[in-house]
Amino acid sequence: MAEHFTPTQLPVVVLWLGATSSVYGLLEEVGQSAEAMSEIVKAVKTYSYLDQAPIQSVDVIESLENTLVLLRPKITADISITRDYADDVPRIEAYGSELNQVWTNIIDNAIDSIEGRGELTLRAYTADGVVTVDIIDNGPGVPPEIQPRIFEPFFTTKGPGVGTGLGLHIAYNIVVHKHRGQIQVASKPGETRLRVVLPIRLAASNSG
Ligand SMILES: Nc1ncnc2c1ncn2[C@@H]1O[C@H](COP(=O)(O)OP(=O)(O)OP(=O)(O)O)[C@@H](O)[C@H]1O
Ligand SMILES: [Mg+2]
Repeated sequence: MAEHFTPTQLPVVVLWLGATSSVYGLLEEVGQSAEAMSEIVKAVKTYSYLDQAPIQSVDVIESLENTLVLLRPKITADISITRDYADDVPRIEAYGSELNQVWTNIIDNAIDSIEGRGELTLRAYTADGVVTVDIIDNGPGVPPEIQPRIFEPFFTTKGPGVGTGLGLHIAYNIVVHKHRGQIQVASKPGETRLRVVLPIRLAASNSG
């Protein structure tokens, strides 16, 4: 190409080429951000169930995955996520938005517990009219003496201004009172499992 330009033109052309290639780099970045953004917007929209009735037919695995998209900024490179989803998990009748709050609060704690480096496992399966979700981390665990207290309002072991101690209390209310489900903790050092059991059909008597 150089032979088509005079010696005075050549440096200008080289500069121009350099500029355009960084423009291409920028455009590519813009494209990627736009893609990430539309993925986030989509997740927010389904996450909040903005335009839908309070009780929906919810795909539990999809709602877990949407929660992960929104928590992505907290999921650093040294956190590995294992998904163990059965392929026969049915849709459930649920308050979709609130259910996402449950996943958010539990996964948020799991991420806090592994402090930037560790493993998170999400498991979902079904049997006997319920769907069970296990959220497991390999952090230090919940000491046995505080396990009975973690669902209490304002119970926190995090420093002042860090945790409100409301995350699991809110999750408990949503699972147990709104969905007539169960939420349990099982924990030992290196393995903490929060288990949420949800009925496939909401009880007709449910008052919310
Ligand atoms: N995965 C976990 N590993 C270890 N400890 C946990 C885990 N999940 C919860 N806990 C313990 O339970 C406590 C209560 O959790 P909860 O989510 O209700 O409040 P928080 O995380 O302290 O504050 P907030 O959720 O309001 O930011 C935590 O402070 C922590 O001691
Ligand atoms: Mg919390």
